[in-house]
Amino acid sequence: MTLGVFDSGIGGLSVHRKLVDRFPELDFIYLADQKNTPYGGRGGEEIVALTQAGCARLFDTGCDLVVLACNTASAIALRRLQQTWLPDLRRQRGRPTNILGIIVPTIEAATGLPWEHEAERRGDKVEKLDVLAVFATSATARSRVYEIEIDKRRQDVAVFVEPCPDLAGMIEAGAGPDRVQRAIAGHVAAVTARIGKAPDRAILGCTHYEIVADLFRAALPAGTPLIHQPEATAGALSGYLARHPEFLSPGKGNRIFLTTGTPGLQHALAEDFWGAPLVFDPA
Ligand code: DGL
Repeated sequence: MTLGVFDSGIGGLSVHRKLVDRFPELDFIYLADQKNTPYGGRGGEEIVALTQAGCARLFDTGCDLVVLACNTASAIALRRLQQTWLPDLRRQRGRPTNILGIIVPTIEAATGLPWEHEAERRGDKVEKLDVLAVFATSATARSRVYEIEIDKRRQDVAVFVEPCPDLAGMIEAGAGPDRVQRAIAGHVAAVTARIGKAPDRAILGCTHYEIVADLFRAALPAGTPLIHQPEATAGALSGYLARHPEFLSPGKGNRIFLTTGTPGLQHALAEDFWGAPLVFDPA
């Protein structure tokens, strides 16, 4: 099987890397929509249309299963595409076809509960004990998906989402570590001021942030647990494939990297993260 991995840019590489480690025998096509990155400041309909176009490209290239390695696309577009586009597409293709997001596995990891679990609503006031900060793009923050879905499952977790409007674009453009560090320190200070204390745990709720996870670590109090989306997504995919063997056919370990932007070598930040020169072909 060829597994498609989609993001607006290089952020999804953080998820892609863990998926490749977990499923080395599968073929992978990574698609970065760098012509339209960043998505986080765009309107909902635009994000839906761009995500659909990216997935269509991956299905046309031979993928049957696509992982949206992008919180913004998962929060804004996934449900719409699953409800309004995928049923017809499946009929046209006549083969198993699906798109998976990364927010469900992240929320499962944050709550320690399966997605199907819904908390019993208690009438009395729940003491919020566990304070979770989520750093995210503006579009993901506006969707309120983290607050809503975590509250449905765990009423003892207080979620504070910090929108970081420029951060993904900065990382995508290969900004130097000092600039990125200053921006991250500002967001950590802002959410800490809103909470009134440092968060107990944090989610890097944009895959670009995982590329600079060490800078988040340095800005948060030492030892603050981070919930890592790449690990959570790889674990969830493993369970999904066990339940859906129709997607499993032997691959050759092929790795293809495509971009809608400028093909060629990626910048040093992406390369440092990847650990080797990273060349993208035109999508
Ligand atoms: N890396 C993406 C995310 O997880 C998108 C960031 C952006 O394009 O703004 O949200």
